Amino acid sequence: MDNSIKDHWNEIYGALDTDELTWYEEIPAPSVKLLSKCHIDKDETILDVGAGASTFIDYLVNHGFKNIIAADISEIALNKLKERLGKEKESAVRWIVDDITRPVHIQNLRDIAVWHDRAVLHFLLEEEQQQMYLSTLRKVIKKSGYVIVAAFSLEGAKKCSGLEVKNYDQNMMAKFLGEDFILIEYFDYVYYMPSGKPRPYIYTLFQKK
Ligand SMILES: C[S@@+](CC[C@H](N)C(=O)[O-])C[C@H]1O[C@@H](n2cnc3c(N)ncnc32)[C@H](O)[C@@H]1O
Repeated sequence: MDNSIKDHWNEIYGALDTDELTWYEEIPAPSVKLLSKCHIDKDETILDVGAGASTFIDYLVNHGFKNIIAADISEIALNKLKERLGKEKESAVRWIVDDITRPVHIQNLRDIAVWHDRAVLHFLLEEEQQQMYLSTLRKVIKKSGYVIVAAFSLEGAKKCSGLEVKNYDQNMMAKFLGEDFILIEYFDYVYYMPSGKPRPYIYTLFQKK
C-alpha cells in the first residue's frame, strides 16, 4: 500500500465532515441512474472502488442490495461511512481497506456484477497504476458484468484535494478499458461542490462482453 497516498486521504477525511468534502453528494443521482441500466439481481455483487464515505453505499443498502463491497485506501473514510450507516446497515456491507494500485484483497474478489468508481481512476497518473487498476478490474468482473466509471471530464478540474488528475471523455475511457468492454451509455454531469462551484464529470457505463 502506498502510505503517502493513504496518509493524504486519511488526513482529508480526518479534517473535514463528510458533507464538506468537495465531492460530497447528498443523493448519488448519476450513479443511481447508471445502476438502473444494469440488469442485475439484488443478490449480485456490487463493488464500490474508492467508496470513501459515499452515499452510494447508503443507497445500495437502503434499496435492498445484498452483496455490497466498499473498498478504499482510507480506513478513516470507511469508518465515517460505517458510523453514518449504523451497526445494522454496516453489517450489510463488506469492508476492504486496500490500494487499488497495489491490491492485496480486491484482486481476490470474483464475480463482481457491477464495478463502480466515482472519482478514483482519475487520480492514477502513472501507466503502471492504471494497468494495475485495469488488470484487477478484468480479474474480478464477471462475464457480462457492468463497469460504471465517473471521472473529471476534459472541461473539468485539473486537480482535486491537492492532487493532479487525468481528465477523461467517453472515448478515452473506452480505449482504456479495451475491446472487451462495450460502452452502453455516457453523459456529462455537472456536480456542484458544497461551495456552490461547478465540477464537470463524465459518467460512463460499460458492459463486459
Ligand atoms: C474524490 S474521492 C471519491 C470518493 C467516493 N467515490 C465518492 O464519490 O464519494 C476519491 C476516493 O478514492 C480513494 N482513493 C484514492 N486513491 C486510492 C487508491 N489508490 N486505492 C483505493 N482508494 C483510493 C480516496 O481515499 C477517496 O475516498
